[in-house]
Amino acid sequence: MIELSKVMGHRGAALLAPENTLASIRAAAATGVKWVEIDVYPIAQGGLIIFHDDTLDRCTNGSGVTEQSQLETVLSLDAGAWFSESFRGEAVPTLEQALDCIQELRLGLNLEIKYEGSDVDSVVPPILAMLEAKWHQPKKLMISSFNYPALQVCHRLQPNIALGYLVEEVPADWQEKLSAIDAYSLNCYYLPLTEQQARAVKAAGYKLLCYTANDPAEVTEHWAWGMDTVITDDPNQFMALES
Ligand code: G3P
Ligand code: MG
Repeated sequence: MIELSKVMGHRGAALLAPENTLASIRAAAATGVKWVEIDVYPIAQGGLIIFHDDTLDRCTNGSGVTEQSQLETVLSLDAGAWFSESFRGEAVPTLEQALDCIQELRLGLNLEIKYEGSDVDSVVPPILAMLEAKWHQPKKLMISSFNYPALQVCHRLQPNIALGYLVEEVPADWQEKLSAIDAYSLNCYYLPLTEQQARAVKAAGYKLLCYTANDPAEVTEHWAWGMDTVITDDPNQFMALES
């Protein structure tokens, strides 16, 4: 059984430090939050980095298409100064570095597979292999993705890992999709979610995670509807909920 908590830091704590960096993960931990969500992005020659965007431009001092970038190049970039001068020198982490950091901080991990391609049979197994080698707290791990075929590969190869199906809007076939991969949760954008949808997901026995809310007033109703966890850029705003 997963030891889920009510609050999860988004991209670490994206409002407090440059997103998806080790500094962001540490900033999340400093708030007292117990879980973080980060994005693992497959790049050239099997590299696995923690990164959100399709290009390097917004969050580093480099440029170019993320998936075509070489690991050596990405690791030489500054991923902190764009956020604030005080984070200059912060690097894009590898998946391995992030797993070490998160475990040192005793946090739970929602690892989002950020991959829009179709070659999931090549891309997903190395991510699972890295988790198998480096992650030692199965009750504090979930994998999520908008890429449903990627989750199908996870289910086939590692059926014990909790899976969250990520959606912006709840699709008509959500129940079939969750059932077919024995999912743990539906992870959806809080804004378009309706009370009826939320209650149906909960009635079907799934956890309900909602992203990305930074003001507690935005999700007051969602708790009443049965939301289990809010994913937020600023866990400080929600810390009253964590015991
Ligand atoms: O996992 C929730 C959230 O991270 C999904 O959207 O674009 O911020 O990765 P995005
Ligand atoms: Mg994400």
